[in-house]
Amino acid sequence: SVLEMEVQQINKGKYEHYMQKEIHEQPESLTTTMRGRLIRGGSHKVKTVLLGGLKDHLKTIRRSRRIVFIGCGTSYNAALAARPILEELSGVPVTMEVASDLLDRQGPIYREDTAVFVSQSGETADTLLALEYALENGALCVGITNTVGSAIARHTHCGVHINAGAEIGVASTKAYTSQIVVMAMLALAIGGDTISNEAKREATIDGLIDLPNKVREVLQLDQEMKDLAKLLIAEQSLLVFGRGYNYATALEGALKVKEVALMHSEGILAGEMKHGPLALVDENLPIVVIATRDACFSKQQSVIQQLHARKGRLIVMCSKGDAAAVSPGESCRAIEVPQVEDCLQPVVNIIPLQLLAYHLTVLRGFNVDQPRNLAKSVTTQ
Ligand code: G6P
Repeated sequence: SVLEMEVQQINKGKYEHYMQKEIHEQPESLTTTMRGRLIRGGSHKVKTVLLGGLKDHLKTIRRSRRIVFIGCGTSYNAALAARPILEELSGVPVTMEVASDLLDRQGPIYREDTAVFVSQSGETADTLLALEYALENGALCVGITNTVGSAIARHTHCGVHINAGAEIGVASTKAYTSQIVVMAMLALAIGGDTISNEAKREATIDGLIDLPNKVREVLQLDQEMKDLAKLLIAEQSLLVFGRGYNYATALEGALKVKEVALMHSEGILAGEMKHGPLALVDENLPIVVIATRDACFSKQQSVIQQLHARKGRLIVMCSKGDAAAVSPGESCRAIEVPQVEDCLQPVVNIIPLQLLAYHLTVLRGFNVDQPRNLAKSVTTQ
């Protein structure tokens, strides 16, 4: 109805689409996600992370034999982004399960496991069924959702709300970055205050506090991503190469492009390049390579060299000031993003790709907020 349309326009404010609004409100949604959870000590130094919904279970989680992340779509990718920091700080092995695949295999889940269910809506059927399965098998079940009172929030033993605010666009954007931040805080909470973790802990907490500012900075790439979208508008396919902390960024960037821009896109683990993907490389296929500064940087530089040697059409995402260092030739385009603590870099790096997917969709004339054949919350199997 006309009234409904007017209400929608009011909700969108100055933006044309919900996805656009939700991308741009990430500095605020991330601030809300962290509010009251980073506790400062007397000297104004941040001391600790407080996740109220978990505090009675932290000991059990620390003692568990394994932490299993379970989710679908973007929520799975967010867990994948957080996996390295959780492994690093907790020392507990972390494994990943796509909810439907865990059910298909009836994969092993034990009493000594902590199963972490990640879901924006808290209502996804596959994730909910995997939760029932893990409960039957006696695991401690933790929920990470954006929806208070949702089925997953109610049926888990404990959990954390991401507090990102309602997300309307079918393609998840602000929930993804808030999920990563919550899971980084989860890693800090589980990791505890061991001496060996101290430097990493402090750097991560400082990084979290400054993250909304860095996100505001990276959002300034909006016009640049629109220009890039114009160049890619008629492409059939887009590859995204990432590794380490940013393997998830590659998967999630590609998922955004295929979901809303209806363009084939594939996230590729750069370490697997030689084992297949290299066969696709020619002068036409556009390839995004994520090569921001972290422990994998020099490996990514060599990936860039190898793709360039095969005349790959490269778009390199790099840290500010690195454009010349990473560009193998004139034809290569660079996207410079602010550098943050390595485990938080996926939060910054996904944003140009969200913007790219958004602009590609609008330029190609497709429905951004409700892509064909997809639903915000898939409540049937
Ligand atoms: C659907 C949505 C995706 C979402 C996935 C998982 O496929 O279209 O955007 O990532 O479900 O949803 P959840 O609510 O469990 O995070």
